Amino acid sequence: MTTGKPFSPASERNRDPILEVLREHFAHAREVLEIGSGTGQHAVHFAAAMPWLGWQCSDRADYLPGIRAWLDEVALPNTPPPVELDVAQGAWPARTFDAVFSANTLHIMGWPEVQACFAGLDKTLAADAVLAVYGPFNYGGQFTSDSNREFDASLKARDGRMGIRDAEAVDALAQTIGLRLVDDIAMPANNRCRVWRRGVGATFTSPR
Ligand SMILES: C[S@@+](CC[C@H](N)C(=O)[O-])C[C@H]1O[C@@H](n2cnc3c(N)ncnc32)[C@H](O)[C@@H]1O
Repeated sequence: MTTGKPFSPASERNRDPILEVLREHFAHAREVLEIGSGTGQHAVHFAAAMPWLGWQCSDRADYLPGIRAWLDEVALPNTPPPVELDVAQGAWPARTFDAVFSANTLHIMGWPEVQACFAGLDKTLAADAVLAVYGPFNYGGQFTSDSNREFDASLKARDGRMGIRDAEAVDALAQTIGLRLVDDIAMPANNRCRVWRRGVGATFTSPR
């Protein structure tokens, strides 16, 4: 770690398993919007490993200096300066993207913000776009592990609006904007990487 930059140990641990998924699902994408870039560590790792992508970081204003520090240090040709985006505030980029990525954000946002996020995605995703979301999810109203149950309790103690989301509820939101689930992959530490697509030809077989 370089002094002065924010650092997330979890991002270092999960970046390569996530990269494996994105290499597959973003293989034909060109322009990615990342929502809730956090420190910016994911962005520099993914943009360096997938140079065919333009990787647009975004986050709430407080996070932008840290993201800039990571991007400036590496100075990749495919990471423009981060843009401010609070999904609940309405000022989304005035352009479309053919891919959107977000990690560990849906359980930090309150449910109304998650709804606002998908409403914003409706205008931001191109007709054949792909959306990949990494993080913990519940299935059938159940936690997938004791550690996720404890994590959910700690989130709610911090802020009652936070909490691990039901995969089915997120799928229902995604469907309202024409997204269909195409992949649902088990990731380390009881997380998932869930991928939706717009347009024809998108099919889901089974979780893996
Ligand atoms: C746990 S951090 C994850 C950061 C990073 N994606 C990662 O995986 O390391 C949660 C992120 O969600 C972002 N976030 C929470 N609410 C948001 C909102 N309403 N709009 C945009 N981003 C939001 C936070 O600013 C923060 O960057």
